Amino acid sequence: MPPEVSQVPPAHYLPAADLLKDRVVLVTGAGDGLGRATALACARHGATLVLLGRTVKKLEAVYDLIESAGLAKPAIYPLNLAGATWNDYAEMAATIERELGQLDGVVHCAAHFSGFMPLADVGAREWVESLQVNLTAAYSLTRLCLPLLMQSADASVVFLADASGREPKAYRGAFGVAKYALEGMVKAWAEELEIHPTLRINSYDPGPMRTRLRVRGYPGEDLQTVALAETAVPGLLWLLGADSQGTSGRALQRAR
Ligand SMILES: NC(=O)c1ccc[n+]([C@@H]2O[C@H](COP(=O)([O-])OP(=O)(O)OC[C@H]3O[C@@H](n4cnc5c(N)ncnc54)[C@H](OP(=O)(O)O)[C@@H]3O)[C@@H](O)[C@H]2O)c1
Repeated sequence: MPPEVSQVPPAHYLPAADLLKDRVVLVTGAGDGLGRATALACARHGATLVLLGRTVKKLEAVYDLIESAGLAKPAIYPLNLAGATWNDYAEMAATIERELGQLDGVVHCAAHFSGFMPLADVGAREWVESLQVNLTAAYSLTRLCLPLLMQSADASVVFLADASGREPKAYRGAFGVAKYALEGMVKAWAEELEIHPTLRINSYDPGPMRTRLRVRGYPGEDLQTVALAETAVPGLLWLLGADSQGTSGRALQRAR
């Protein structure tokens, strides 16, 4: 049975201008697509950003936009999640603690998706890379940041979901397997974290968005008919800010 889902943000939600003031938020895949849109919006709402991604030029472009807008100076953390190890995440968490002293939010936007394919056609490399980026990296990064997140008075971790993770379907390949596992992980982890009410953890399906990932799944589609990544951002702001306190272990989706 697919997990219960509900839509966020609530109707007529207007995030306060200072929603994320004094918070440090790490966004993976921050150089492009939803990660980029999320990082820019978080910065506009007062957060200090850790911009994690694999293409330094893209991260620098986001950094420049934030800096030129006079917002809190972000940090760039280049990391290829396909090859990152436990030690890399431990080092990253130590660097955040040393340089910024806190971590109040993580948004897992980075994703590896090569296109739809039958499971029988998934090659060894595609299987490993998909599970690594979409599942293992999301787990390991969160796991190694847990001590920092637990020190926060109000922390939120969001894993980006996809319809194929909510209900297993044919031709979603290793990507679908990873996304489905992610949903289970969020539910189990949130249950285990119930004793830490200041740390919430949820999955969020942004729905179809006009990004590079979408093009890999639907190459013939007229992209102009697909919503911009920015339309999924209010739900993420709601999840990151104090407005979502008490919401944990949920499979959420963008309000439409
Ligand atoms: N787009 C949609 O229609 C849609 C629908 C439902 C759910 N989602 C979910 O929304 C999330 C964001 O998707 P998106 O559409 O924004 O995707 P996107 O535009 O393809 O962006 C993905 C980001 O992940 C980064 N990335 C990929 N492999 C990486 C690696 N090995 N190490 C570090 N970073 C890596 C990319 O970096 P580079 O730019 O350097 O490649 C890019 O910044 C994903 O979890 C996706 O499953 C998307």
